[in-house]
Amino acid sequence: MKPKRSIFYFFAFCFIGLCEAGPRINCYPEPSANQNLCESRGCIWGPTQDTSDGTPWCYFKDGVGYNLASQNGSTYNLRKNNGPKNPWGEDFQNIQIRTSTIGSVLNVKIGLDGRYEPPVDFPRATLASSETLSFTTASSDDLFWFSVIRNSTNRKIFDTSLGGLIFSDQFLQLSTYLPSENMYGWGENAHQSLKHNFSRYLTWGMLARDQPPNSLNLDTMNLYGVHPFYMCLEPDGNAHGVFIFNSNPQEVTTAPGPSLIYRTIGGNLDIYFFPGPTPALVTQQYLEFIGKPFLPAYWALGYQLSRYGYSGLDEMKQRVGAVRDAGIPLDIAVSDIDYMNRYKDFSTNDKWSGFEDYVNQMHGWNMKLIPIFDPAVEADYLPFQRAQSFGAKFIEWETYSQVQTDIQKLYPMANKTKIMLGVVWPDNHVAFPDFLDSTGRTQAWWRTELELYHSKLTFDGIWIDMNEPANFGTNEQHPWYFDSADHPDDAPLFCPTNGSNRWDLPPYQTHAVYYYGGNQNNAYLSSKTLCLAGVQNNGSYRFYDTKNLYGLTEAISTQQALLDVTGKRGAVVSRSTFPSAGRYAGHWLGDNTARWEDLRTSVIGAQEFNLFGIPYVGSDVCGFLGTSNEELCLRWQQMGAFHSFFRNHNTLREPAQDPAVWPSVAAATKTANLFRYQYLPYLFSLHFQASQSGLTVVRPVLFEYPSDSATFDLGYQFMWGSNIMVAPVVYQGAVTTNLYLPNDVWYSLFNYMYGSRIDPGYITVPSPTTSRIPVFVRGGSAIPRQTPTTTTTMSRFNPFELLIAPCQLGKAVGVLYWDDGQRIVDSFDTHDYHQFDFNFVSTSSDAQLTITRTRKGSVTLPTLDIIEIFNYPSPPNFRSFLLNGKSVNVNVQSSTYSGITKTLYISTQFLIDLTSADVITLSWSNVAK
Ligand SMILES: *[C@@H]1O[C@H](CO)[C@@H](O)[C@H](O)[C@H]1NC(C)=O
Ligand SMILES: *[C@@H]1O[C@H](CO)[C@@H](O)[C@H](O)[C@H]1NC(C)=O
Ligand SMILES: *[C@@H]1O[C@H](CO)[C@@H](O)[C@H](O)[C@H]1NC(C)=O
Ligand SMILES: *[C@@H]1O[C@H](CO)[C@@H](O)[C@H](O)[C@H]1NC(C)=O
Ligand SMILES: *[C@@H]1O[C@H](CO)[C@@H](O)[C@H](O)[C@H]1NC(C)=O
Ligand SMILES: *[C@@H]1O[C@H](CO)[C@@H](O)[C@H](O)[C@H]1NC(C)=O
Repeated sequence: MKPKRSIFYFFAFCFIGLCEAGPRINCYPEPSANQNLCESRGCIWGPTQDTSDGTPWCYFKDGVGYNLASQNGSTYNLRKNNGPKNPWGEDFQNIQIRTSTIGSVLNVKIGLDGRYEPPVDFPRATLASSETLSFTTASSDDLFWFSVIRNSTNRKIFDTSLGGLIFSDQFLQLSTYLPSENMYGWGENAHQSLKHNFSRYLTWGMLARDQPPNSLNLDTMNLYGVHPFYMCLEPDGNAHGVFIFNSNPQEVTTAPGPSLIYRTIGGNLDIYFFPGPTPALVTQQYLEFIGKPFLPAYWALGYQLSRYGYSGLDEMKQRVGAVRDAGIPLDIAVSDIDYMNRYKDFSTNDKWSGFEDYVNQMHGWNMKLIPIFDPAVEADYLPFQRAQSFGAKFIEWETYSQVQTDIQKLYPMANKTKIMLGVVWPDNHVAFPDFLDSTGRTQAWWRTELELYHSKLTFDGIWIDMNEPANFGTNEQHPWYFDSADHPDDAPLFCPTNGSNRWDLPPYQTHAVYYYGGNQNNAYLSSKTLCLAGVQNNGSYRFYDTKNLYGLTEAISTQQALLDVTGKRGAVVSRSTFPSAGRYAGHWLGDNTARWEDLRTSVIGAQEFNLFGIPYVGSDVCGFLGTSNEELCLRWQQMGAFHSFFRNHNTLREPAQDPAVWPSVAAATKTANLFRYQYLPYLFSLHFQASQSGLTVVRPVLFEYPSDSATFDLGYQFMWGSNIMVAPVVYQGAVTTNLYLPNDVWYSLFNYMYGSRIDPGYITVPSPTTSRIPVFVRGGSAIPRQTPTTTTTMSRFNPFELLIAPCQLGKAVGVLYWDDGQRIVDSFDTHDYHQFDFNFVSTSSDAQLTITRTRKGSVTLPTLDIIEIFNYPSPPNFRSFLLNGKSVNVNVQSSTYSGITKTLYISTQFLIDLTSADVITLSWSNVAK
């Protein structure tokens, strides 16, 4: 029996030409479905005329699912019903649904005890919410379904009446209707729009893989990380979030309805619902639960220069020198694998001799070094030998009989082990550290290697790459490196894919395999990685289950090592991520290409990773693969200056693309970077709030305007916190930018009408390459700034500034968080930091700024010397200024008021010592009319 759908859905489906009561649940998601194969699964073959909407031709009959056998409180015992059977394995006859609440979070766990649970240690903390979600069930004859309802509005936010619940050992499926099409999230994929598009069926792969994004056109392939999380805005503007805690290879289909069909090939369906009701609260609730992001060192917000393929240290020196000579703010030099000796971790190549001297020199310039480390280590050198003596573990085969002995016998140190040897950048075979080792020996060894290497090269942060983990040429007779002059022809890893193997050839292999045409095309779950039959933690975990956690677990160990070795908080940046990775590391959006399309998807990707709790995120500025060009690089530098992780990075053999290459790019980058460095106290405060409270840094506009539907589709605009709107130029040849300003008070912060009010709505503003990209400040904001210079460290010594952009009523508020920029944060309760709240009020005759120190730290800070106030109604009496009631001399030479722009600029050396009192007031009156 079909559950009844509302008339709305009926029309919706007639509208797209189906006239069916619900979306089709694909019965043949594998490639090359045909009528025979379909019908042999007992499914319906129904070709459609229009193939552009991706409607599956082979789909399940109605009634796939379970019925309710019994209920005991919040536990529902389900029994497989008489509906269609699962084509991918024996349905479990009995499964359970258990529901519980963890504070405001509703957990619905569908599954069986004793099955694999991802070993990820979430804090599982909650935030109080005014909202309650409740679980309700219903049945129609033989089919059980459930809904999750928002009590306050009685809206179903999750509704599985669509049917399609399947639960077997290696195939799990859950389908739901969504309350609206305004859904954001799921990853990691290259999304071309921030909001998902439910006008057709699209399946997105989720399996961590060394897979450069293709942004040229719509592409659903799986990238480096896995994030089974989405946020949905309900029709009345309430928001909720849903997290499915599952680490197996998985996928999601977004389908008309709007609906979702989620499939995974292991574990349970452990689902967490976050009630919001605002988008910001959804993120905060999610991050309380999975863990809030780490606070990067202050310097990590500086500009980074990187490339793959430096010919040696001299070239790095030359490019760093060129950027510095151009007066472009630069904080960090990044070294890719070139610096290593034959790409082996913890070694330095001869062409880089003197690297440590140069790092010392850079430290003298207040610059920092972030080198790359790959997880896999060659099975024949000292670090590997030390690993053995530490008792460190590596990903291994389950049994000795599986070991590829022709490879193993080449390595005496690995010969008697089950270690699964693979091939990455180094010349010889490599072993992959097992960061799930519960004895802690692997982590202790990793730390020791980093410590030993740090004693030779005093790096400040760590870049971890290739941690999906990537392996070259798996299952390939002729891997690419056989044709590389820079890599020996090592025998590739072959996984058990030629017979039947439940891990490497499971009954359902997910979009990550089918996207490439399946096994006929040599596509496997193990493509570009290790065999899924592998094991971790002395056989207690199957790599099939834990592969997606590799980047996360490496990040955990690496961050701990960095903290221990440097004694400072630094920053780790990781390619592969999983929920909670933001606690330990940032992320860059991978090996993009120097194309405008990639610039655009970067803008979207950074917003998504903020939803995923990884706000220290950005793209390879100017594009990694392919040849960049002057205009693209210029626009990317301008946009990237608003991403927390801000790094220009290029690939091997491409011409240099650092900003010093082109005078126009150098000029634009200098302008963009100086703006960023001026606003770093604000950006840092946003990161502080993200770490402390789970707020986003780079934020979709809809987070601030969830009741304005015009913001729901904005992908190429974003906000910096609540107060600054950025509309980057993302199209070639553009000299104007179309953008949307929600109904609010806005002031320009770029060249066009700087400081003036800009009317909200859809507007077009000039954006020549010689101008800053369009950036606006929202009325009601008091934004801490600092006079910028060419490093973050030196900027920190400059006077503070405060930008006041009043709302309609002449008021503004803001906050500044400040610590020493590098101290390790054990807990914000004990962390040494200052917090200052700014509160500005004005009338037509006077004004008052109150600065309240709400947290007292011990760090000394520069004085607040400059206050810039927009839309100030009339000239102030510069002689009337009172600081805490006492007359204060304002420098009338450097302070100005413009009756035309209505900007008041107060500039006086040592005007306010922020630490002089817990409450400081600066007040003045205006010239009497
Ligand atoms: C129902 O659940 C309670 C508590 O979880 C348990 O003590 C009881 O035995 C259960 N009853 C049945 C019939 O399973
Ligand atoms: C929410 O609604 C459900 C079902 O209507 C009800 O059982 C529950 O008591 C409600 N919870 C709250 C906190 O109102
Ligand atoms: C959604 O996809 C359809 C094609 O299926 C396309 O025509 C439409 O423009 C897309 N909408 C958005 C907002 O991208
Ligand atoms: C590796 O082990 C095998 C079996 O124990 C032995 O025959 C072979 O000589 C060993 N090779 C090396 C290089 O140690
Ligand atoms: C599968 O491949 C392995 C390694 O290449 C080989 O030893 C084995 O005989 C093959 N098995 C089958 C069933 O072909
Ligand atoms: C590892 O597993 C083996 C086989 O199950 C067991 O004998 C051994 O004690 C385990 N070692 C550790 C350190 O747990």
